Amino acid sequence: MSKLERYEKEQLNIDLDGTQNRKMPDRELIVNRPRILEIIDAMKTYNELSRIRRSAQELLNQVHDARDDHMNLFNIDSNGETIRLRSGFLLEELQKIIESRTIERCNYYIEHLQKGLLETRTNKINDLNLNRWREYRDIYTDSLWILDRRDSTGVHSADYWGNFIPQIPRQLMMRYTKQGEWVLDAFAGCGTSLIEAQRLGRNCIGVELQKSVADKARKLISSEPNDHNVVCEVHCGDSLSVDYPSLLKERGVSSIQLLIMHPPYFDIIKFSSDPRDLSNARSLDSFLSMLGQAVENAAAVLDKHRYFALVIGDKYSRGEWIPLGFLAMDKVLKQGFTLKSIIVKNFEETAGKRNQRELWHYRALVGGFYIFKHEYILLFRKK
Ligand SMILES: C[S@@+](CC[C@H](N)C(=O)[O-])C[C@H]1O[C@@H](n2cnc3c(N)ncnc32)[C@H](O)[C@@H]1O
Repeated sequence: MSKLERYEKEQLNIDLDGTQNRKMPDRELIVNRPRILEIIDAMKTYNELSRIRRSAQELLNQVHDARDDHMNLFNIDSNGETIRLRSGFLLEELQKIIESRTIERCNYYIEHLQKGLLETRTNKINDLNLNRWREYRDIYTDSLWILDRRDSTGVHSADYWGNFIPQIPRQLMMRYTKQGEWVLDAFAGCGTSLIEAQRLGRNCIGVELQKSVADKARKLISSEPNDHNVVCEVHCGDSLSVDYPSLLKERGVSSIQLLIMHPPYFDIIKFSSDPRDLSNARSLDSFLSMLGQAVENAAAVLDKHRYFALVIGDKYSRGEWIPLGFLAMDKVLKQGFTLKSIIVKNFEETAGKRNQRELWHYRALVGGFYIFKHEYILLFRKK
């Protein structure tokens, strides 16, 4: 059995104990690391089950009682070494110790908790600590994303018609990049990806055809704090022909680690009158060929085995559903990528559509079709 299989089996055993789905409050805590490790170490020396359980219960109560999001659990002095933890992680681990029926099982969970506090186990493409995987409740792993609210914190807004919701680039960057790596958004629009990259400490280059839109993106990005001191810049140009190696070289790098594309969905929204704009493609074939060219141009600077996310929806034309998403997927698959996931995301209803809901319901009944409620995030990995 491989190391990974063994680890997964251990996790499964834990889940079979029935603790997996217990709903625990989940907040970020700042914890005094030496102190919590001391308490956990002591648990290992007790040779009575009831003593271990009592100690775990006391610790659990303290976590439960922690009031504010960033409270100094266990009285941290100014020199105290601290660790940031999700309270949900601590609560679940402690609960498993409390529910154990043998000292051996208790010790197994105590060691598991210790490992989560002492060791970091990440993979090559993100910073997620797999020893504390239960902490990442905010990271989606299902292929169906039903998001009822757009993140409108900071400078994010829905003002730019056709922008995507910030949760999309955020999720992608958390899963597929490490801090300090480089992201490229080849259809940057008003800079949603760049704003998220700046918040998450990823460098990001955006390419946008329209000068006024690129200027707006720059303005938005610069009005947000840049706590991680990263480079998030928008280049005004055509993503089919822009010289990416030079753009990167100017910034001291030669490749990117994540590629995001959110192109026009053919002619659904006309973004400009520029013939280089994908929304002005003369035909479906021409749209797909322009998209293919944009992918080829950007893929050349994407590192091998790294990810490319294409965000796209279908369209309806003269009584016919045009599967733009699948046609685009087919195009990309012929360009040296492996398909990793097809994510279906619900479509946000605009105010106009909401007001016309009844009318659309009627039209759908008459016309024998279904109303668009979804779009795709097609996830590829470069071979
Ligand atoms: C769907 S929007 C992207 C919105 C973006 N994700 C955001 O959140 O703001 C597509 C963008 O691609 C731009 N665009 C169209 N053709 C382009 C091209 N050839 N090169 C660069 N940008 C292009 C359009 O001007 C538009 O802003």
